Amino acid sequence: MFIRALSLRDFRSWEHAELELSPGRTVFLGSNGNGKTNLLEAIGYLATLGSHRVAADAPLIRMGADKARIGASVVNTGRELRIDVELNQGTANRAQINRSPARRTREILGILQTVLFAPEDLALVRGDPGERRRFMDELCTARLPRLAAVRSDYDRVLRQRSALLKSAGRQARSKADLGTLDVWDGHLATHASVLLTYRLRLVHDLYPYLAQSYAAIAPESRPATIGYRSASLPPEFLDPAREPAPDDTEALEAIMLRELAAARPKELERGVCLVGPHRDELDLNLGAAPAKGFASHGESWSFALALRLGAFELLRATGSEPVLLLDDVFAELDRRRRTALAAVAAGAEQVLITAAVPEDVPAELAAAPLRVETSGGPDGRTSRIAEPVPPPS
Ligand SMILES: Nc1ncnc2c1ncn2[C@@H]1O[C@H](COP(=O)(O)OP(=O)(O)OP(=O)(O)O)[C@@H](O)[C@H]1O
Ligand SMILES: [Mg+2]
Repeated sequence: MFIRALSLRDFRSWEHAELELSPGRTVFLGSNGNGKTNLLEAIGYLATLGSHRVAADAPLIRMGADKARIGASVVNTGRELRIDVELNQGTANRAQINRSPARRTREILGILQTVLFAPEDLALVRGDPGERRRFMDELCTARLPRLAAVRSDYDRVLRQRSALLKSAGRQARSKADLGTLDVWDGHLATHASVLLTYRLRLVHDLYPYLAQSYAAIAPESRPATIGYRSASLPPEFLDPAREPAPDDTEALEAIMLRELAAARPKELERGVCLVGPHRDELDLNLGAAPAKGFASHGESWSFALALRLGAFELLRATGSEPVLLLDDVFAELDRRRRTALAAVAAGAEQVLITAAVPEDVPAELAAAPLRVETSGGPDGRTSRIAEPVPPPS
């Protein structure tokens, strides 16, 4: 797939931007702070309904504005769809598909698929488990957009059940409280089992692509492996080589119910929900050691890169080809890793690259760059796209 047109209004530093894009490579060139990453962040938002840089939407709305708009025309196997999202300060966000209002913003998920490489990716390896859960869940949702509804149902039930655990834990427990808790256990297990099914499938499917990507980037290093980590699942479910079975969801639901019942006394005592996919994570290993805490800086970068490359290869092998977004990544990489990434990028249907200086873009990916500039505007810092600059001779 590729993005044919992108329009922004009051998104980050962009008061207004209209861009015509084509398949192949586009390089956004501009000095620091000129709004290059903001462009990729906006595109990433259309694909995931979230930013790779911030957890909340408020910073995405241009300072002084009360709403931001992002729109794109996406061409997938010859068919063009227009998607638009409006981010509102204080009220719910809204979305449109082909200019008609969508009932929920998440209905646009799946229309645009992206894989974004960014300097923030080091947190995939070095950061909290939440980073790796987000990686898994965003990738699961890219493969199966209806999982967004499951994730949102799970989060809602988790919040309500946690509130009940807190209050039931504090007061003398009534029979009614415990009965209500049983009902919430049922809801939690239902949504958890679906989410777990797809996370386990993802780890199983991603595993070979990840191992291969890592070996290509860092052939001298120990082999990279991944595994699903969960204190509540039996070990056989956690083996990435295990073939997913058609009745996994029912089996996982039964396991969740059993684990919730066993954890009940401890949960009431502590007032938190101790069982479920919100406690799980993705293990990243180099040889026999966990990457987190053991991997060198270079190995951590290679692992993060291999996770993204693996995700890209997996999506393109099993669905439609995602748009590749490369945010300032080449400057961080040594020659071998630049070459490995450039080789994948060179074969992608559409690649959007940001760089501060043209020398940061490998020769294989050189394209006539679009210069991003800041100018004018009430804050004196509104970004704009200037004329394409001629390719370096
Ligand atoms: N909500 C906002 N309203 C107005 N400006 C914003 C907002 N959020 C971020 N900015 C501005 O956007 C600019 C950062 O843009 P961006 O991160 O896209 O830069 P960049 O071109 O990628 O720079 P670098 O080369 O350093 O990565 C900063 O100047 C910042 O002040
Ligand atoms: Mg940037």
